[in-house]
Amino acid sequence: MAKLKSVFICQQCGHSTSKWLGQCPSCKEWNTLHEEVISTSKKVVSNPSYTPGAEKSSPLNLKDVQSLTRERIMLEDTELNRVLGGGIVPGSISLIGGHPGIGKSTLLLQLALQAQGKVLYVSGEESEQQIKLRAERIGTIRDNCFIYAETDTLDILRQAKALQPQFIVIDSIQTIRSPGLESAPGSVTQVRESTAELQRFAKQTNIPILVIGHINKDGAIAGPKILEHIVDVVLQFEGDSNYRYRILRSIKNRFGSTDEMGIYEMVNSGLRIVSNPSAMLLNQSELVLSGSSTAAAIESARPIFIETQALVSTAVYGTPQRSSTGFDTRRMNMLLAVLEKRAGFRFGTMDVFLNIAGGIKISDPALDMSICVALVSSLEDFNISKKMCFCGEVGLSGEIRAVSRIEQRIQEADRLGFTDLYVPKPNMKGLDQSRYNIRIHEIRVLGELFSELFG
Ligand code: TYD
Ligand code: MG
Repeated sequence: MAKLKSVFICQQCGHSTSKWLGQCPSCKEWNTLHEEVISTSKKVVSNPSYTPGAEKSSPLNLKDVQSLTRERIMLEDTELNRVLGGGIVPGSISLIGGHPGIGKSTLLLQLALQAQGKVLYVSGEESEQQIKLRAERIGTIRDNCFIYAETDTLDILRQAKALQPQFIVIDSIQTIRSPGLESAPGSVTQVRESTAELQRFAKQTNIPILVIGHINKDGAIAGPKILEHIVDVVLQFEGDSNYRYRILRSIKNRFGSTDEMGIYEMVNSGLRIVSNPSAMLLNQSELVLSGSSTAAAIESARPIFIETQALVSTAVYGTPQRSSTGFDTRRMNMLLAVLEKRAGFRFGTMDVFLNIAGGIKISDPALDMSICVALVSSLEDFNISKKMCFCGEVGLSGEIRAVSRIEQRIQEADRLGFTDLYVPKPNMKGLDQSRYNIRIHEIRVLGELFSELFG
């Protein structure tokens, strides 16, 4: 009988102590130590596939190491292929994190249903019937998708070995448990041990595993950071569940770039790939109103043109209200201060509301210029043509600073049919403008921008 022992384990970094402490001595986080019961029996805790005295490996000369010749598994989902850096690598383990209800289970079930080969979909959260219901909603059911509602890692891996699927989906890592450990599913020890077991299996059999992970309220994948260290790929599924669009972002990738993202749309029958992502957030109506302008933004190397909207009105109460949706409020306040001080627009007694629609988080600093234009357009009640777009970072002195990937922005603006693009002057050094039909306006400071726009 295994002896039971309880230890306190930091849920952030996995550090363990024998008594409770308010602050973790290792990562200095507060209130992260939780009690967990672990079994001290050597035989159970250690790797079940490990046999003492078995042949040990010795160091190899790198020249003699066989390179991985097995081809990547290409998925039907072209966006996921791109985010993974060109399909799944055999024997790899990928973690997909995201807030509840964002569509993680939908994405991976859809993948399992589309696959050419056999797929094992393990669910610790939903019953087979619930999954069937979801699958019927998503589309055609082929005869090579196997559902297994189980939480025990040994059983899961035994079945996987027998089935020999093309890949395995685990929904989710927080619900499965290793039978050798006493602590509850979802606890640090369980998450760590089950992931390690999955990884050993993946490496031995070359079957890749896709694991779903929950996210806690700070936006980090629940469980220890160690989890992100163990796995080969970490993807994040983002979006606002009130909106249709979802972004799959790569945070870590041992086999490709992290500068990739996939864009999906949640519809009644599952997730659809967005065909024209750069224009998806543009307002299609013909109506031209003051307070709105288009930004030529880039997110993870992909151009996304987005409408920025502002409403500036006289404050009714003593302290004016400042609020923004989809944009950092502090950055908005900074832009207001710059507009006031460097370009002479009076926002001091005005309520200011800013809105970037779509529910997609865009962190491109090139949004600044378009936001300034929207703010001034609303303040002065001056319409901005829908055929104009803007990109440029605004500095504290009102100077327009260079942005990344300017050629890509110009090309996309041209392709989408815009007639005028306002860009930072420092970006245009040595750039051949004759290749584009679009009129390019080079801007050095905010004042110059507004005298061009408003005459
Ligand atoms: P789900 O995949 O269960 O999210 P997660 O696993 O990340 O918690 O997605 C649930 C949401 O997706 C749910 O609120 C309904 C919506 N949805 C659709 O809009 N269309 C669909 O075809 C499906 C299956 C779900
Ligand atoms: Mg789910």
